[in-house]
Amino acid sequence: MFSTGEVVRFTLFGKSHGPCIGGILEGIPEGFEIDLDRVAEEMELRKPTGKIGTPRREADAVQFLQGLNGNVTDGRPLLIRIENGNTDGSKYMKFYDTPRPGHADLPALIKFPDHDLRGSGQFSGRLTAAVVAAGAVAKQYIERFGIRVDAFSRSIGNVIDENPHDIDDAHGSRAYATRACDSGTDDLMRAHIEEIGAGKDSVGGVVECIVTGLPIGFGGIWFQALDAEIAKAMFGIPACKGVEFGDGFALARMKGSESNDGYRMDEGRIVTESNHMGGIVGGMCDGAPVVFRTVFKPTPSIGVTQNTINLKTEKDDTVSVEGRHDPCIVPRAVAVVEAMAAMTIADQIRRGL
Ligand SMILES: Cc1cc2nc3c(=O)[nH]c(=O)nc-3n(C[C@H](O)[C@H](O)[C@H](O)COP(=O)(O)O)c2cc1C
Repeated sequence: MFSTGEVVRFTLFGKSHGPCIGGILEGIPEGFEIDLDRVAEEMELRKPTGKIGTPRREADAVQFLQGLNGNVTDGRPLLIRIENGNTDGSKYMKFYDTPRPGHADLPALIKFPDHDLRGSGQFSGRLTAAVVAAGAVAKQYIERFGIRVDAFSRSIGNVIDENPHDIDDAHGSRAYATRACDSGTDDLMRAHIEEIGAGKDSVGGVVECIVTGLPIGFGGIWFQALDAEIAKAMFGIPACKGVEFGDGFALARMKGSESNDGYRMDEGRIVTESNHMGGIVGGMCDGAPVVFRTVFKPTPSIGVTQNTINLKTEKDDTVSVEGRHDPCIVPRAVAVVEAMAAMTIADQIRRGL
């Protein structure tokens, strides 16, 4: 079991080809009404679609085994269960001898002698279904405080959306399979994923997340800083290889006079004139929307033949991956990014940061 958060604490369990996956969500106060249809909607957004997602299709019905009286929290931890149905482990057996480059096989087989490789075991993106279910609850909880979290696909491979987008655009990405903000970009992203997938390869990209409604001063400092805890939450998502806030790595090429976000009064409210910092200074919100981007690497399981070693013969070898995989993780990761961000913010609210 793997846990994150202090008061709104989430614990994840299960593996890809076990009977179920699930999670325990602690810290949501008693008497909180959950819209279960909205939980189901979030689950739909993580599901693979068409040729741009894995052919493994699951019902992903969320069961709350404890913590709800009807649809109202009873103060006990929420126990979330999601059944695994559509399993086929046959294509994974060869990875016991020839581990896949880019996936967790090699370190996991060396570290855990009983590692179950079927479906990639506990390293499977499948477990993110439970993350999205818990995040759907956290999202509804933070909405009570006027806080919204929405994300979209900023880029997939060489298809990069250069347009500025606000939280309504990000919310609108729910209409598109790739989670692009408009149909033109969705077409381009989809075509790119399909083309790369047809070549038995995979492609990565960037998810951008926007959070609005956080008051000035919200967030912890130092190791509890809002950006520090969001970044940690993002790196907990499989295949995340980078996180940047605001202008992020581009800040390295700017002068202070260009990067600082000036303040001004707007009808009695303090506002920033720009948002190079992504809405966070000193770990706390400066009143601008929190904006961060998460990089997802190309899916490691690919049909292209790659170099590996053979753990049985202790010689060099090759491996290619058959079976059911996402040619691009990004469209499905958007819902996971939103879920982890919502749980992190809910936790900081409950900790009074
Ligand atoms: C939503 C989601 C779906 C994923 N689907 C796949 C997949 O189909 N095939 C695969 O090899 N990896 C997939 N991954 C990524 C692996 O789980 C991940 O690369 C692996 O556990 C190694 O961890 P690391 O990339 O963080 O180092 C997926 C990740 C996410 C978040």
